[in-house]
Amino acid sequence: MREGHASRTAEQNALFRALESSRPRGERICDDPLARHFLTWPFTLVMRFAAIPGGAKFAASFIDRRWPGVRSSVVARTRWIDDAIAAAQDDVEQIVILGAGFDTRAYRMAVLRAVDVFEVDHPDTQVAKRRVLQRLFSEAPSHVRFVAVDFKRDDLIDGLRRAGYRDSARTFILWEGVTNYLTENAVDSTLRWCGRASAGSRLLFTYIHRDVLTRPSAFAGTKNLLASLDRAGERLTFGMDPSDVPRYLAARGLSLEQDVGAAEYRERYFGAAARTMRGHEFYRLAVAHVGTKHG
Ligand SMILES: C[S@@+](CC[C@H](N)C(=O)[O-])C[C@H]1O[C@@H](n2cnc3c(N)ncnc32)[C@H](O)[C@@H]1O
Repeated sequence: MREGHASRTAEQNALFRALESSRPRGERICDDPLARHFLTWPFTLVMRFAAIPGGAKFAASFIDRRWPGVRSSVVARTRWIDDAIAAAQDDVEQIVILGAGFDTRAYRMAVLRAVDVFEVDHPDTQVAKRRVLQRLFSEAPSHVRFVAVDFKRDDLIDGLRRAGYRDSARTFILWEGVTNYLTENAVDSTLRWCGRASAGSRLLFTYIHRDVLTRPSAFAGTKNLLASLDRAGERLTFGMDPSDVPRYLAARGLSLEQDVGAAEYRERYFGAAARTMRGHEFYRLAVAHVGTKHG
């Protein structure tokens, strides 16, 4: 991230969600009516263009040609995660959103209004988000607490406890779109913290296939993507080999339940159309629960 600036990739995700949400109601894979409020120039211009008849379709296909697979992957995983949270609602007492960016679930999902939501993020992104939220809501939603943390430097648990996080509550931890920008140490210590959450807690996180760091050309559509990430100051720095993930998590007190690549989570929502989508297959979504066979 560029110092003093909100995460550009967080804003890109908001753009993809805003574009999808501008499609006719019955055709939307995900629906995030707040996403557009977090956009700045030139993304605001994209949304203006999308409001012209045929504009949204054109904008989406332009993005898909230039950065293959990224938009459809974000859209499908947004919906996947919305559905996972909705399905877990009866088992959850609090939710922690790590690297929340412009995630609006706390404000748009009714099921989350009944639980404490802790939005953890880098101070530079969080300050920008809170400014927009202040404009959107005359009164700050009382179920949301903000915790400003740099995963590479700060103590996560201190910040969370100060904000009212309860160690004994069953927690849903969401860590979407972040591990790939961190150091190995930052991922390690955060996952160790996740592994110490109360019994019954779950973690849903994304990661990238490690090979994309060393052999990007082995994956479709990475050239423009890596150049854009470079310009945004948000280079890919950390990945894992899917075959290693169960062991890696177990060593940190977590059991892997599910691990799917973009091709699979796209297929769940785009159906047959997903088979023609290329790119971003290295971007994976994993679900784990706290506890291992060995306790
Ligand atoms: C791609 S965005 C993902 C945002 C959101 N979770 C989503 O899926 O739309 C990456 C997020 O990671 C956060 N981030 C990156 N490096 C971080 C760090 N060292 N400490 C805390 N947050 C960080 C950024 O502020 C940003 O919100």
